[in-house]
Amino acid sequence: MVIGFLILVSLFTTIQAECNGGSSLCDMSYSDITQLITHDSYALSPNIAATQDYTIIDQLNDGVRGIKLTAVPSIDDPLQINLCHTFCRVLDAGPATETLNTIATWLEENPKEVVTIMWNNLNNFKATELAQVYESSDIMPMVFTHSIGDEWPTIQSMIDAGKRVVNFIDAEADSDQVPWLMDQFSRVFETPYDNTDIDAFNCNVDRIGDDLNPDDLMYVMNHFMYANIDLGTIKVQIPLRSKALITNSRESLTKHANNCTDIFQKKPSFIEVDFYTMGDALDVVAEMNGVTSVPLLSSRISVASRNVSSPVAPHAKLSPTDHVFIDNSLDSSGLQSHHRTYLSVVLMLFLSFSLIIRL
Ligand SMILES: *[C@@H]1O[C@H](CO)[C@@H](O)[C@H](O)[C@H]1NC(C)=O
Ligand SMILES: *[C@@H]1O[C@H](CO)[C@@H](O)[C@H](O)[C@H]1NC(C)=O
Repeated sequence: MVIGFLILVSLFTTIQAECNGGSSLCDMSYSDITQLITHDSYALSPNIAATQDYTIIDQLNDGVRGIKLTAVPSIDDPLQINLCHTFCRVLDAGPATETLNTIATWLEENPKEVVTIMWNNLNNFKATELAQVYESSDIMPMVFTHSIGDEWPTIQSMIDAGKRVVNFIDAEADSDQVPWLMDQFSRVFETPYDNTDIDAFNCNVDRIGDDLNPDDLMYVMNHFMYANIDLGTIKVQIPLRSKALITNSRESLTKHANNCTDIFQKKPSFIEVDFYTMGDALDVVAEMNGVTSVPLLSSRISVASRNVSSPVAPHAKLSPTDHVFIDNSLDSSGLQSHHRTYLSVVLMLFLSFSLIIRL
Protein backbone atom coordinates (compact mmCIF):
# COMPACT_ATOMS: atom_id res chain seq x y z
CA MET A 1 0.00 0.00 0.00
CA VAL A 2 2.70 2.44 1.06
CA ILE A 3 4.88 1.30 -1.83
CA GLY A 4 1.96 1.75 -4.24
CA PHE A 5 1.48 5.24 -2.94
CA LEU A 6 5.18 6.04 -3.36
CA ILE A 7 5.14 4.73 -6.93
CA LEU A 8 2.09 6.89 -7.62
CA VAL A 9 3.78 9.92 -6.12
CA SER A 10 6.94 9.35 -8.15
CA LEU A 11 4.89 8.81 -11.32
CA PHE A 12 3.04 12.01 -10.59
CA THR A 13 6.32 13.85 -10.05
CA THR A 14 7.72 12.41 -13.28
CA ILE A 15 4.65 13.49 -15.21
CA GLN A 16 5.03 17.01 -13.84
CA ALA A 17 8.73 17.15 -14.47
CA GLU A 18 8.91 18.21 -18.08
CA CYS A 19 8.83 21.39 -20.13
CA ASN A 20 9.59 23.61 -17.13
CA GLY A 21 6.55 22.75 -15.05
CA GLY A 22 4.28 20.32 -16.89
CA SER A 23 3.49 18.73 -20.23
CA SER A 24 0.89 21.41 -20.97
CA LEU A 25 3.74 23.92 -21.28
CA CYS A 26 5.65 21.98 -23.97
CA ASP A 27 3.88 23.71 -26.83
CA MET A 28 3.98 27.14 -25.28
CA SER A 29 6.49 29.73 -26.35
CA TYR A 30 9.47 30.29 -24.07
CA SER A 31 8.33 33.91 -23.81
CA ASP A 32 4.78 33.03 -22.71
CA ILE A 33 5.49 30.94 -19.63
CA THR A 34 6.46 32.27 -16.21
CA GLN A 35 9.64 30.96 -14.63
CA LEU A 36 11.00 31.30 -11.11
CA ILE A 37 14.45 32.81 -10.98
CA THR A 38 16.67 33.02 -7.91
CA HIS A 39 18.49 36.26 -7.07
CA ASP A 40 22.22 35.51 -6.70
CA SER A 41 21.58 31.78 -7.06
CA TYR A 42 25.13 30.78 -6.04
CA ALA A 43 25.20 32.84 -2.80
CA LEU A 44 24.43 30.13 -0.27
CA SER A 45 23.96 30.18 3.48
CA PRO A 46 25.51 29.98 6.01
CA ASN A 47 27.87 32.53 4.47
CA ILE A 48 27.02 36.01 5.67
CA ALA A 49 26.42 37.11 2.08
CA ALA A 50 23.90 34.39 1.27
CA THR A 51 20.64 35.04 -0.53
CA GLN A 52 19.69 31.37 -0.95
CA ASP A 53 19.57 28.40 1.41
CA TYR A 54 19.89 25.64 -1.20
CA THR A 55 22.34 24.75 -3.93
CA ILE A 56 21.67 25.41 -7.59
CA ILE A 57 21.00 21.67 -8.04
CA ASP A 58 18.35 21.78 -5.28
CA GLN A 59 16.92 24.90 -6.88
CA LEU A 60 16.62 23.18 -10.27
CA ASN A 61 15.18 20.02 -8.72
CA ASP A 62 12.60 22.14 -6.89
CA GLY A 63 11.45 23.90 -10.06
CA VAL A 64 13.57 27.04 -10.26
CA ARG A 65 14.45 27.53 -13.95
CA GLY A 66 16.30 30.83 -13.92
CA ILE A 67 19.76 31.23 -12.41
CA LYS A 68 21.44 34.59 -11.77
CA LEU A 69 25.23 34.53 -11.71
CA THR A 70 27.76 37.29 -11.03
CA ALA A 71 31.11 37.26 -12.81
CA VAL A 72 34.03 38.51 -10.69
CA PRO A 73 37.81 38.00 -11.15
CA SER A 74 39.15 35.31 -8.83
CA ILE A 75 41.55 36.42 -6.09
CA ASP A 76 44.36 34.11 -7.17
CA ASP A 77 44.06 34.67 -10.89
CA PRO A 78 42.33 37.84 -12.10
CA LEU A 79 41.88 36.24 -15.52
CA GLN A 80 39.77 33.46 -14.04
CA ILE A 81 36.05 34.18 -13.68
CA ASN A 82 34.57 33.17 -10.33
CA LEU A 83 31.07 33.54 -8.94
CA CYS A 84 31.39 36.03 -6.14
CA HIS A 85 29.06 38.37 -4.39
CA THR A 86 30.74 41.66 -5.30
CA PHE A 87 34.07 40.72 -3.70
CA CYS A 88 35.49 37.24 -3.73
CA ARG A 89 36.80 37.79 -0.19
CA VAL A 90 33.24 37.99 1.09
CA LEU A 91 31.57 35.15 -0.80
CA ASP A 92 33.41 33.05 -3.35
CA ALA A 93 31.38 30.28 -4.96
CA GLY A 94 34.39 29.16 -7.03
CA PRO A 95 35.13 29.08 -10.74
CA ALA A 96 32.17 29.79 -13.04
CA THR A 97 33.17 26.73 -15.11
CA GLU A 98 32.37 24.43 -12.20
CA THR A 99 28.85 25.80 -11.79
CA LEU A 100 28.27 25.61 -15.55
CA ASN A 101 29.38 21.96 -15.44
CA THR A 102 27.00 21.33 -12.55
CA ILE A 103 24.11 22.82 -14.50
CA ALA A 104 25.15 20.84 -17.61
CA THR A 105 25.07 17.59 -15.62
CA TRP A 106 21.60 18.42 -14.31
CA LEU A 107 20.40 19.18 -17.85
CA GLU A 108 21.76 15.85 -19.10
CA GLU A 109 19.83 14.08 -16.33
CA ASN A 110 16.71 16.15 -17.08
CA PRO A 111 16.48 16.10 -20.88
CA LYS A 112 13.08 17.80 -21.05
CA GLU A 113 13.98 21.00 -19.24
CA VAL A 114 15.18 24.43 -20.34
CA VAL A 115 17.34 26.57 -18.03
CA THR A 116 17.99 30.30 -18.27
CA ILE A 117 21.19 31.90 -16.98
CA MET A 118 21.31 35.65 -16.47
CA TRP A 119 24.74 37.17 -15.92
CA ASN A 120 25.47 40.20 -13.84
CA ASN A 121 28.70 41.25 -15.53
CA LEU A 122 29.77 43.43 -12.64
CA ASN A 123 33.38 43.76 -13.78
CA ASN A 124 32.66 44.15 -17.48
CA PHE A 125 34.35 41.02 -18.71
CA LYS A 126 34.35 40.83 -22.49
CA ALA A 127 31.74 38.51 -23.98
CA THR A 128 34.60 36.53 -25.52
CA GLU A 129 36.12 36.02 -22.05
CA LEU A 130 32.86 34.60 -20.74
CA ALA A 131 32.57 32.52 -23.90
CA GLN A 132 35.89 30.87 -23.04
CA VAL A 133 34.42 29.80 -19.69
CA TYR A 134 31.49 28.18 -21.51
CA GLU A 135 33.77 26.56 -24.04
CA SER A 136 35.79 24.93 -21.31
CA SER A 137 32.62 23.53 -19.72
CA ASP A 138 30.18 20.82 -20.80
CA ILE A 139 27.33 23.29 -21.24
CA MET A 140 28.54 24.81 -24.53
CA PRO A 141 26.75 22.40 -26.93
CA MET A 142 23.42 23.27 -25.28
CA VAL A 143 23.44 27.07 -25.65
CA PHE A 144 20.49 28.59 -27.48
CA THR A 145 20.67 31.60 -29.81
CA HIS A 146 17.83 34.02 -30.43
CA SER A 147 17.93 36.79 -33.03
CA ILE A 148 16.29 40.11 -32.17
CA GLY A 149 12.89 40.33 -33.82
CA ASP A 150 12.38 36.56 -34.07
CA GLU A 151 9.53 34.87 -32.21
CA TRP A 152 10.70 32.83 -29.24
CA PRO A 153 10.32 29.09 -29.93
CA THR A 154 8.23 26.64 -27.96
CA ILE A 155 9.83 24.81 -25.05
CA GLN A 156 9.40 21.56 -26.99
CA SER A 157 11.29 22.81 -30.03
CA MET A 158 14.17 23.93 -27.82
CA ILE A 159 14.20 20.47 -26.27
CA ASP A 160 14.09 18.80 -29.69
CA ALA A 161 16.97 20.92 -30.94
CA GLY A 162 19.00 20.20 -27.78
CA LYS A 163 19.42 23.96 -27.27
CA ARG A 164 18.22 24.16 -23.70
CA VAL A 165 20.34 26.88 -22.09
CA VAL A 166 19.28 30.49 -22.64
CA ASN A 167 22.03 32.95 -21.68
CA PHE A 168 21.54 36.64 -21.05
CA ILE A 169 24.10 39.22 -19.98
CA ASP A 170 23.47 42.70 -18.61
CA ALA A 171 26.63 44.35 -19.96
CA GLU A 172 29.21 43.86 -22.72
CA ALA A 173 27.10 41.64 -24.97
CA ASP A 174 28.76 41.13 -28.35
CA SER A 175 26.20 39.91 -30.85
CA ASP A 176 28.78 39.47 -33.63
CA GLN A 177 31.36 37.40 -31.80
CA VAL A 178 29.22 35.67 -29.16
CA PRO A 179 25.62 35.74 -30.44
CA TRP A 180 24.36 33.17 -27.93
CA LEU A 181 25.38 35.30 -24.92
CA MET A 182 22.47 37.61 -25.52
CA ASP A 183 22.00 41.20 -24.45
CA GLN A 184 19.40 40.95 -21.71
CA PHE A 185 17.90 44.41 -21.84
CA SER A 186 17.11 44.14 -25.56
CA ARG A 187 14.98 41.11 -24.78
CA VAL A 188 14.08 41.13 -21.08
CA PHE A 189 13.63 44.28 -19.02
CA GLU A 190 13.36 44.37 -15.24
CA THR A 191 11.16 46.04 -12.65
CA PRO A 192 13.08 47.79 -9.82
CA TYR A 193 15.14 45.57 -7.52
CA ASP A 194 15.61 48.26 -4.92
CA ASN A 195 12.50 47.53 -2.85
CA THR A 196 12.25 48.44 0.82
CA ASP A 197 8.52 48.50 1.48
CA ILE A 198 6.39 45.37 1.16
CA ASP A 199 3.43 47.56 0.15
CA ALA A 200 5.34 49.44 -2.52
CA PHE A 201 6.42 46.77 -5.00
CA ASN A 202 5.76 48.43 -8.33
CA CYS A 203 5.78 47.73 -12.03
CA ASN A 204 7.99 50.52 -13.26
CA VAL A 205 10.32 49.79 -16.16
CA ASP A 206 13.70 49.97 -14.44
CA ARG A 207 16.39 48.52 -16.67
CA ILE A 208 15.75 48.31 -20.42
CA GLY A 209 17.79 48.95 -23.57
CA ASP A 210 17.76 52.51 -24.95
CA ASP A 211 14.67 53.47 -26.96
CA LEU A 212 13.04 50.07 -26.60
CA ASN A 213 9.34 49.54 -26.08
CA PRO A 214 8.53 47.37 -23.05
CA ASP A 215 5.57 45.91 -24.99
CA ASP A 216 8.03 44.06 -27.24
CA LEU A 217 10.06 42.51 -24.43
CA MET A 218 9.75 39.89 -21.73
CA TYR A 219 10.27 41.06 -18.16
CA VAL A 220 11.69 40.05 -14.80
CA MET A 221 9.45 40.97 -11.86
CA ASN A 222 11.91 41.57 -9.04
CA HIS A 223 10.30 40.57 -5.78
CA PHE A 224 12.79 40.71 -2.94
CA MET A 225 13.12 43.26 -0.24
CA TYR A 226 15.72 45.28 1.60
CA ALA A 227 15.34 46.96 4.95
CA ASN A 228 16.78 50.35 5.88
CA ILE A 229 19.12 50.63 8.81
CA ASP A 230 20.39 53.91 10.20
CA LEU A 231 23.91 53.93 11.56
CA GLY A 232 24.31 57.51 12.59
CA THR A 233 24.71 59.40 9.36
CA ILE A 234 25.14 56.31 7.24
CA LYS A 235 22.18 54.43 5.85
CA VAL A 236 22.53 50.86 4.69
CA GLN A 237 19.99 48.63 3.04
CA ILE A 238 19.89 44.97 3.95
CA PRO A 239 17.75 42.04 2.79
CA LEU A 240 16.12 40.63 5.90
CA ARG A 241 15.87 36.88 5.67
CA SER A 242 13.37 36.95 8.52
CA LYS A 243 10.92 38.75 6.23
CA ALA A 244 11.19 36.25 3.37
CA LEU A 245 8.07 34.32 4.40
CA ILE A 246 6.03 37.51 4.05
CA THR A 247 7.80 38.78 0.94
CA ASN A 248 7.37 35.41 -0.78
CA SER A 249 3.81 34.93 0.44
CA ARG A 250 1.06 34.18 -2.05
CA GLU A 251 -0.61 37.46 -1.15
CA SER A 252 2.41 39.65 -1.80
CA LEU A 253 3.53 37.85 -4.97
CA THR A 254 0.04 37.69 -6.47
CA LYS A 255 -0.69 41.33 -5.79
CA HIS A 256 2.56 42.37 -7.48
CA ALA A 257 2.15 39.99 -10.43
CA ASN A 258 -1.47 41.03 -11.04
CA ASN A 259 -0.45 44.68 -11.07
CA CYS A 260 2.38 44.08 -13.56
CA THR A 261 0.14 41.88 -15.73
CA ASP A 262 -2.42 44.73 -15.88
CA ILE A 263 0.16 47.38 -16.64
CA PHE A 264 2.20 45.46 -19.23
CA GLN A 265 -0.76 43.41 -20.54
CA LYS A 266 1.45 40.38 -20.18
CA LYS A 267 2.43 38.05 -17.33
CA PRO A 268 5.99 38.33 -16.04
CA SER A 269 8.27 35.87 -17.84
CA PHE A 270 10.46 35.68 -14.74
CA ILE A 271 9.74 36.20 -11.06
CA GLU A 272 12.93 36.73 -9.09
CA VAL A 273 13.11 36.00 -5.36
CA ASP A 274 15.48 35.42 -2.45
CA PHE A 275 15.15 32.27 -0.28
CA TYR A 276 12.76 30.60 -2.72
CA THR A 277 11.75 27.77 -0.34
CA MET A 278 10.27 30.22 2.12
CA GLY A 279 6.73 31.25 1.25
CA ASP A 280 4.74 30.34 -1.86
CA ALA A 281 6.87 31.40 -4.83
CA LEU A 282 6.95 27.97 -6.53
CA ASP A 283 3.20 27.49 -6.07
CA VAL A 284 2.38 30.96 -7.36
CA VAL A 285 4.49 30.44 -10.49
CA ALA A 286 2.92 27.01 -11.13
CA GLU A 287 -0.55 28.51 -10.81
CA MET A 288 0.32 31.31 -13.22
CA ASN A 289 1.30 28.60 -15.71
CA GLY A 290 -1.87 26.61 -15.00
CA VAL A 291 0.09 23.57 -13.77
CA THR A 292 0.32 21.77 -10.43
CA SER A 293 3.43 22.49 -8.43
CA VAL A 294 5.57 19.62 -7.20
CA PRO A 295 5.70 19.71 -3.40
CA LEU A 296 9.05 20.51 -1.83
CA LEU A 297 10.68 17.80 0.22
CA SER A 298 9.44 18.28 3.76
CA SER A 299 12.99 18.29 5.11
CA ARG A 300 13.77 21.21 2.86
CA ILE A 301 10.84 23.22 4.15
CA SER A 302 11.66 22.62 7.78
CA VAL A 303 15.28 23.63 7.27
CA ALA A 304 14.13 26.76 5.49
CA SER A 305 11.88 27.79 8.36
CA ARG A 306 14.64 27.50 10.93
CA ASN A 307 15.67 30.59 12.79
CA VAL A 308 19.18 31.22 11.60
CA SER A 309 20.68 34.65 11.46
CA SER A 310 19.89 36.26 8.16
CA PRO A 311 22.49 37.36 5.68
CA VAL A 312 22.44 41.01 4.84
CA ALA A 313 23.90 43.34 2.29
CA PRO A 314 24.38 47.06 2.35
CA HIS A 315 23.00 47.97 -0.98
CA ALA A 316 24.75 50.00 -3.64
CA LYS A 317 23.13 51.65 -6.61
CA LEU A 318 24.97 50.00 -9.47
CA SER A 319 23.30 46.63 -9.72
CA PRO A 320 21.44 44.13 -7.59
CA THR A 321 24.60 42.22 -6.83
CA ASP A 322 26.85 45.17 -6.29
CA HIS A 323 26.70 44.92 -2.53
CA VAL A 324 29.00 44.55 0.39
CA PHE A 325 27.88 42.06 2.96
CA ILE A 326 27.68 42.35 6.67
CA ASP A 327 26.62 39.96 9.34
CA ASN A 328 22.97 39.96 10.20
CA SER A 329 21.08 38.86 13.20
CA LEU A 330 19.24 42.10 13.12
CA ASP A 331 15.67 42.06 14.23
CA SER A 332 13.40 44.30 16.26
CA SER A 333 15.81 44.00 19.18
CA GLY A 334 18.31 46.04 17.17
CA LEU A 335 22.04 45.72 16.75
CA GLN A 336 23.95 43.66 19.23
CA SER A 337 27.38 44.92 20.05
CA HIS A 338 29.42 42.30 18.19
CA HIS A 339 27.31 42.95 15.15
CA ARG A 340 27.89 46.61 15.55
CA THR A 341 31.64 46.04 15.59
CA TYR A 342 31.47 43.77 12.58
CA LEU A 343 29.28 46.24 10.79
CA SER A 344 31.74 49.07 11.39
CA VAL A 345 34.61 47.00 10.02
CA VAL A 346 32.71 46.10 6.91
CA LEU A 347 31.45 49.62 6.44
CA MET A 348 35.01 50.91 6.63
CA LEU A 349 35.91 48.37 3.98
CA PHE A 350 32.93 49.48 1.97
CA LEU A 351 33.81 53.14 2.23
CA SER A 352 37.42 52.57 1.26
CA PHE A 353 36.21 50.49 -1.65
CA SER A 354 33.93 53.33 -2.74
CA LEU A 355 36.95 55.58 -2.63
CA ILE A 356 38.89 53.15 -4.77
CA ILE A 357 36.06 53.05 -7.25
CA ARG A 358 36.03 56.83 -7.51
CA LEU A 359 39.77 56.89 -8.06
C1 LIG B 1 1.21 49.04 -9.58
O1 LIG B 1 2.34 49.50 -10.31
C2 LIG B 1 2.31 50.89 -10.54
C3 LIG B 1 3.39 51.24 -11.56
O2 LIG B 1 4.66 50.92 -11.10
C4 LIG B 1 2.47 51.60 -9.21
O3 LIG B 1 2.47 53.00 -9.40
C5 LIG B 1 1.31 51.19 -8.31
O4 LIG B 1 1.50 51.73 -7.02
C6 LIG B 1 1.21 49.68 -8.20
N1 LIG B 1 -0.05 49.35 -7.53
C7 LIG B 1 -0.12 48.48 -6.53
C8 LIG B 1 -1.48 48.24 -5.99
O5 LIG B 1 0.87 47.92 -6.07
C1 LIG C 1 11.42 31.71 14.93
O1 LIG C 1 11.37 32.90 15.69
C2 LIG C 1 10.07 33.45 15.83
C3 LIG C 1 10.18 34.80 16.54
O2 LIG C 1 11.22 34.82 17.50
C4 LIG C 1 9.18 32.46 16.58
O3 LIG C 1 7.87 32.97 16.72
C5 LIG C 1 9.13 31.15 15.79
O4 LIG C 1 8.39 30.19 16.47
C6 LIG C 1 10.55 30.63 15.54
N1 LIG C 1 10.49 29.51 14.59
C7 LIG C 1 11.17 28.38 14.78
C8 LIG C 1 11.01 27.34 13.71
O5 LIG C 1 11.92 28.19 15.73
